[in-house]
Amino acid sequence: MGPTATIVAMRVLSGIQPSGQLHIGNYFGSIKPNLEFVNEAEQSFFFIADLHALTTTQDAKTLKKSREDIVLDYLACGFDPNKAIIYEQSQIPEHTELMWILSCVCPMGLLERAVSYKDKVQQGIAASAGLFTYPVLMAADILLYDATHVPVGKDQKQHVEIARDLAGKFNTTFGKDILAVPEPVIRDETAVVPGVDGKKMSKSYGNTIPLFGDDAAIKKAIMGIVTDSKGATDPKNPDDCVIFQIHKLFLSESEVSALSEEYKGGLSYGDAKKRLYEAVMDYFAPMKERRATLKKEEVSEVLSQGRERARKVACATIERVRKSVGLN
Ligand code: ADP
Ligand code: TRP
Repeated sequence: MGPTATIVAMRVLSGIQPSGQLHIGNYFGSIKPNLEFVNEAEQSFFFIADLHALTTTQDAKTLKKSREDIVLDYLACGFDPNKAIIYEQSQIPEHTELMWILSCVCPMGLLERAVSYKDKVQQGIAASAGLFTYPVLMAADILLYDATHVPVGKDQKQHVEIARDLAGKFNTTFGKDILAVPEPVIRDETAVVPGVDGKKMSKSYGNTIPLFGDDAAIKKAIMGIVTDSKGATDPKNPDDCVIFQIHKLFLSESEVSALSEEYKGGLSYGDAKKRLYEAVMDYFAPMKERRATLKKEEVSEVLSQGRERARKVACATIERVRKSVGLN
């Protein structure tokens, strides 16, 4: 038998599309869990899914700016480039090569069942072949690095499952254990962070609280959170309240219980929003400060080192894959 996947104890991988300003749903659903894994994992990879972003952002200037911004965001959030490998998807050509090979074993039905394609088309995004085959590129992103754990929000679970299916299909067709089968990692508490309108917070729904937005934009978003029509001093049900659902993310268990009691005792929605605004500002202040001190050269250095380190792993996998399918 030929070479097989190198299964290290825990290899964590995730990515975010540079397709607009990062928001607190991205932070709690993806960035924070990934940061927590960096110390536990034998190796961790965090990348900028810029090829994925092309499915929705088709303006060169905008994409370039978002790519630059998102690296600053990652570093400001606390990724240590000596521990996590940080790189851009488009700089590693093996992603698209593996995508093609996987797409040749990918049953059409698997993609036809993907809900994210249907959702995006419904939102008015052009129904391109790229948008339809997006989960195959995502599978390549994951399988190229023998990732064992993929921390994401709930909306990406189906895509990680597609990656699992494709690894299985590939291994059955071409040889046992050539590709490692990844697991999605989804935290219940942050699986779906609600947006200011109560729906899933998403760049494409215009309902976000931006991570690194200016203070006025953050305040405006928080003050606009939907509530019911209860009077200022009426008792409120925290579990039905979007302000509380978001505020919880910033609090310890005992603080959550204390705030919950205040809602039941008649905390006004206006005061609840002010308190949330303060919590958001305090929480992200050190990250904002760090972001302001990052230098262009530092960022380029992180990306070029990340590219080199990631490419080594990607090339080893592609070598194995090429051999197993008869291309080497
Ligand atoms: P968006 O929907 O804003 O475009 P992305 O699709 O770029 O967000 O998501 C990047 C990462 O952040 C993914 O892992 C995704 O699951 C996570 N994420 C996005 N929105 C949320 C949310 N509202 N709650 C939890 N996780 C989220
Ligand atoms: N599709 C993901 C999103 O929109 C981003 C992504 C691309 C990703 N490739 C990935 C996430 C691989 C985890 C693993 O959020």
